[in-house]
Amino acid sequence: MKKNALCSVVFAAAACGLALLSTSSRSSAQPAPASQPAPEVAEILTPKAAPAPRINGAKVFGVRPNHPFLFTIAATGDRPMTFSATGLPAGLALDANTGRITGALAQEGEFKVTLSAKNSLGTAKSKFKIICGPTIGLTPAMGWNSWNCFADAVTAQHVIDAADAMVKSGLINHGWTYINIDDFWEVNPRRTNDPSLQGPERDAGGKIVPNPRFPDMKGLAEYVHGLGLKIGLYSSPGPLTCGGCVASYQHEDQDAQSYGEWGFDYLKYDWCSYNSVAAASLPPPTNAAPGAPRRRPQIDLATRQKPYAVMRAALDKVPRDILFSFCQYGDANVWEWGAQIGGNSWRTTGDITDTWASLSRIGFSQAGHEKYAGPGHFNDPDMMIVGRVGWGPRLHPTRLTPNEQYTHVSLWCLLSAPLLIGCDMTAMDDFTLSLLSNDEVLAVDQDSLGRQAARLSQTNNLEVWAKDLEDGSMAVGLFNRNTNAQEVIAKWSDLGLKGRATVRDLWRQKDIGKFKDEFHATVPRHGVVLVKITGATASKP
Ligand code: GAL
Repeated sequence: MKKNALCSVVFAAAACGLALLSTSSRSSAQPAPASQPAPEVAEILTPKAAPAPRINGAKVFGVRPNHPFLFTIAATGDRPMTFSATGLPAGLALDANTGRITGALAQEGEFKVTLSAKNSLGTAKSKFKIICGPTIGLTPAMGWNSWNCFADAVTAQHVIDAADAMVKSGLINHGWTYINIDDFWEVNPRRTNDPSLQGPERDAGGKIVPNPRFPDMKGLAEYVHGLGLKIGLYSSPGPLTCGGCVASYQHEDQDAQSYGEWGFDYLKYDWCSYNSVAAASLPPPTNAAPGAPRRRPQIDLATRQKPYAVMRAALDKVPRDILFSFCQYGDANVWEWGAQIGGNSWRTTGDITDTWASLSRIGFSQAGHEKYAGPGHFNDPDMMIVGRVGWGPRLHPTRLTPNEQYTHVSLWCLLSAPLLIGCDMTAMDDFTLSLLSNDEVLAVDQDSLGRQAARLSQTNNLEVWAKDLEDGSMAVGLFNRNTNAQEVIAKWSDLGLKGRATVRDLWRQKDIGKFKDEFHATVPRHGVVLVKITGATASKP
C-alpha cells in the first residue's frame, strides 16, 4: 500500500500567509462555542486559471424546439479572446467576441459541435452536444439566488449587482449562469408598513404586478441576458409565498405567461401556503376538539403533486425554456416522483443554514437518492452557504470553517446538485472565489452522465462517496465527519474497481500517483479529499 503525499488542508498557524478565518470574523449574533478548535487557515487549493484558453462548463445542453436559445461559452484565459464553433445547426449563431450562441432550433435532434476559444497564447477546443427535444436542464443549474443573503430585503439593484459581479468576478467563465430572485419581488399584503412592498397585487386582468422594488421585470431580464446570463424568479402554488407575498394560486397560466413575456428562464415553486389549499380539500379530522392543538393535515400524494402538475402544464404553454425547480422540502419522498411530474430539480430537505450541523445533516442525508437523479432532473439539497451570507439585511462571513466549505462544495458537486451561490457576490474574498472557480471540481457536478454519487462506505464517521463520470473515470470524495484529522480509505472493492489507477487531486488539479486496490489520505476534521480515479477496470460487469 503506497502512502500518498497529500497534506492536510488544516494548518495550525498562518504560515503560508493566506487569509486567516479567525473566530473574530464570526457574526456577533453567533458567539463561538467555548471549546473551539484552533482556527483554520483558509488555504486556497484551486490553482490560478492559466492565461491560455480553456473551455469550461457543461458539455451538453438541452433546448426545446422553437424556443429562444442562449448559451454562453465559458472560457478562462487572457482576453481578448475570440470564439468559433463547427457543426452548429441551422438556426443558431455564435458571436465571436462574446462567445454567446443564440437563435432557435426548428427541429428536434442531436447536434455535435466543436467549440473553440482562441487568444494570443493558443486555441482551446471542446466537444459540445446540443440536444433539441423535450428535456432541458441536462446538467444541474449553476447560478446565484438572492435568499441566503438578501432574503426579504432583495431589490432589483441587488439583482443587477449580482449579475455584474458574476461577470466581473470571472465566475461566468466557469459556467455560472443563473441570477435568481427568490421571494419578495411580489407585493406583500401583510407588510403594510413597508411601502416598497405595497401596491396593486394584480392588474384589472389578473396579471401579477411586481412590488415597487422591481419596477421593470422585462428590463431586468434584458439586462441580465445582455451579459450572457439567465434570470430566474420564485413563486408558490398557494395564495401567498412563504414570506407572505402574492403567489400563483388560481393564476398559474397567467403567471407562467408573465414569466415568459418578461423573459425569465427559471422558476422556483415553493409549496408553503398551499398547505391551506390542500387542507381545505381534505375531510376535517374527526377527532378535532375545540382548542386542541392544530394538526398538520395528512395530505395524500395526488394532492401533493397536483400544484406542481398544474404549473408544469402552465409552463409548457410558454414559448420559452423555463427550468422548473420544486421546493417542498422533500415531502412525500419527492425524489421518487419529481421527474414524473416534470421537475428539473426538487428540494430534498428543509432550509439550509451556515453551520456544520445543518450542512452535514443535509448533505450526508442524500444517500440513496442517487437512483432518482439524471439529466434534466436532479435532487436539490438547497443553496450554497459559502461567502457572506445572512438572510438580509445584515450579512456575516459564513460560519463554516474552510474545511467545511471544501466539504460543502465537493459534496454538492458529487451529488450533481444545482449549485446556487447564496452569498453577496459583490463581496467575495479570494477564498470564496477559489471555492467557486475550480473547473475540475465543477466538472464533477456538470458531468454529462448526470449521475449522483452514492455513499459506498461509512465507518466511524468516515465516508466515501463516488460517482461515475462520462470519460469512464470516477469522482470520489473521502470525507471525515469527526472533529480530529483521520485517515480515510477508498477501497477499490467498494468502488467496484480493480487494477492500477491514476489518482488525481481535483482541488489541487494534480495527479497524486498510481495506486492499486485502494487509496487513502489523511483528511482534516470536517474535511474532504476529492479525487478522480482513472484507468482502473470495473470489477463488476
Ligand atoms: C422557504 C424556502 C427558501 C426560501 C424561502 C422564501 O420555504 O425553502 O429557500 O425560498 O421560503 O420565503
